[in-house]
Amino acid sequence: MKLHEQARSAAIILCVLMLACGSESQATDAKAVAQNGGAPTPAQASAGNTAPKSKKWGPATGEHRPTLEEVHEMFETQPGARAFVFTWATNQQGTINNRWLGVQTIQNPLDAWVTQEIIWDTKPDFIVETGTHKGGSAALWATILAQVNPDGRIITIDIEDKVTKAAELPIVARSVDFIVGSSVDPAVVADVVERTKGKKVLVILDALHTEEHVGKELAAYSPIVNIGSYIIVQDTEVPMTPPALRYGGVARAAAAFVASNDHFEVDKSRERLVLTNNGGGFLKRVR
Ligand SMILES: C[S@@+](CC[C@H](N)C(=O)[O-])C[C@H]1O[C@@H](n2cnc3c(N)ncnc32)[C@H](O)[C@@H]1O
Repeated sequence: MKLHEQARSAAIILCVLMLACGSESQATDAKAVAQNGGAPTPAQASAGNTAPKSKKWGPATGEHRPTLEEVHEMFETQPGARAFVFTWATNQQGTINNRWLGVQTIQNPLDAWVTQEIIWDTKPDFIVETGTHKGGSAALWATILAQVNPDGRIITIDIEDKVTKAAELPIVARSVDFIVGSSVDPAVVADVVERTKGKKVLVILDALHTEEHVGKELAAYSPIVNIGSYIIVQDTEVPMTPPALRYGGVARAAAAFVASNDHFEVDKSRERLVLTNNGGGFLKRVR
């Protein structure tokens, strides 16, 4: 699809979303307010029109600031909302072209923000990442970890070596260890277990997004996660190409793992920004 056609499709989805949410008139109101320097327009004020149309799903006002539950409900019950996020997350010019320190970093920025909070909260000695790609995400986690634990290290694993550019970054040279191999190769797993023994570990899974592969990764790496830390299972929700990777295999793997392992629970509080690629994938070790 050409760029202008994609932009048109995204715009159509956005319009559908706004209509579905009943927000067309609110958008018009917001535009009028913006044009009035942020204050309600005289017409709105005289009509007492500053309150949300729907108390439940209205915009944040002095009268009603939506709860997180209401926002989740709004999102979950609007098919247009989910379609929009999928389109936003997977289009060929969007998040896939994100860069950190100049290196391609295929991360939803909202999930990256939440991951930054998890790194702060858990203060790991090691972050183990499967799926290095160009090394942008490893560089991002390393940049944050350096502020939290200056001796912290990133171990990142990929079957391919594509990190020439990332490897030149000082933060990467200082604190990222690359392993080239499959994340489920028993020799690779044993190596990671050995390196992280007795340390605080956060695990981020972003390699092959199939149910089988993620299931094996969860079994292999969950024992090294300390109580209070997390396994972040990425891309549980995003329909991936090729089609063999679609239809929620990653989400099923995460759900099956949690159902069969009472050390971990899904931490829905980490989905508070709602537009996540990791729904059901923030797994906290609780015991
Ligand atoms: C979605 S990309 C990772 C993106 C990266 N974390 C980022 O944010 O930029 C997935 C990566 O997983 C790698 N991969 C595929 N199969 C793998 C396996 N069995 N073990 C480790 N990595 C694998 C691919 O080579 C690819 O680079």
